[in-house]
Amino acid sequence: MVDLDKILKKIELLQPIPAIIHRISASLGDPDTSLSDLIDIVEKDPAITANLLKICNSAHFGLVGKVDSIHRAVTLLGVQRLAELVLTFGLSENLNKALEAYSLAKGELWKRSVAGAMLAGKLAEHRQLDNRPVIYTSALLRDIGKVILNEYVSDELLNIKKMVCSEGLSFLEAEKACIGIDHAELGGLIARHWNFSPNLVFIIKNHHLTDSSARNHRGTVAVYWADMVAMLVGTGSEVDRLAYHVDEGSFEDFLLSKDELKTLMMMYKGFFQGAERLFAFRQAA
Ligand SMILES: [Fe+2]
Repeated sequence: MVDLDKILKKIELLQPIPAIIHRISASLGDPDTSLSDLIDIVEKDPAITANLLKICNSAHFGLVGKVDSIHRAVTLLGVQRLAELVLTFGLSENLNKALEAYSLAKGELWKRSVAGAMLAGKLAEHRQLDNRPVIYTSALLRDIGKVILNEYVSDELLNIKKMVCSEGLSFLEAEKACIGIDHAELGGLIARHWNFSPNLVFIIKNHHLTDSSARNHRGTVAVYWADMVAMLVGTGSEVDRLAYHVDEGSFEDFLLSKDELKTLMMMYKGFFQGAERLFAFRQAA
C-alpha cells in the first residue's frame, strides 16, 4: 500500500486554479448577477478575454462578422456557452498531460473531459437541473484524480488488471484495493483543496456512483451518465474503459431510455469532435 500522505502532497504540485474561475463560478451561482456583472469579470482578465475573442473569431464557431468584444461574444454564443468556454480554458491546464498508466495519450484526457462536460451540461439542461455550471465543472474535472494517481497505477497495473479481470472488481475498486485511494476520492480531495463548493466536491467524489446515496443527487447522476456514455462511445483506448459497474437503478431513476442513450452517444461523438477542434486551437494559440 502506498503512503497516502505522499499522494496527497502531490495535490500542491498541480497548476493552481486562476482566481477568475472562482469569481465566475460564484457569479453564475448567484441569481442576482447581471449579464454586465459577468462581462465585467471576464473583461478584467486580459488573457482570458484575448483567448475568448480569438476562439470566437476562429473557424471553430463559424460566426459571421468580427467578434471584437466580450459583449458581442455573449450576444452570439449566449451566457451559458461563454461561461463554459471560460471554465474549459481556465480549468483544463492540468488535464493536458499524457497518462501512460491509463493508456491516455497527451490531449486524450483533455478532450474526453471537455466532451463529457458538454454532455453533462446538455443532460442538466434537458432535465432542467439547477447549478448547470457546477455540473459542467464537475464533469470537466471528474477524472482529475487520475493525473496524480497515474504513477501509482503504473506500479500496480498488473495487480489492478488481475483484480478487474479475475475477481470482478471495478477499476475504481481495484485502485482503492491496490493503492489505498481511488481516482474519484482523490479528485474530491483535489476539488476541496481548490476551495470548490461542497456540491462540486461531492459530484467529483461520487462520479462513479460508488456511494448509493449519490443516486439521489441528480447532478451526480448526470455526470455519471455523461461519463458512461463517453466510455460506451470509447473514443480512446483507455485502460479502464467500461471496467466499472453499471448502476441500472440510476438508469431508471434518471428516466433514461435505450433510445435516449443512443441519442446521447451520437451527441457525445459530436462533442468529442468539437473538443478535438478546441484542443487543436489551444495547442496552436
Ligand atoms: Fe472516473
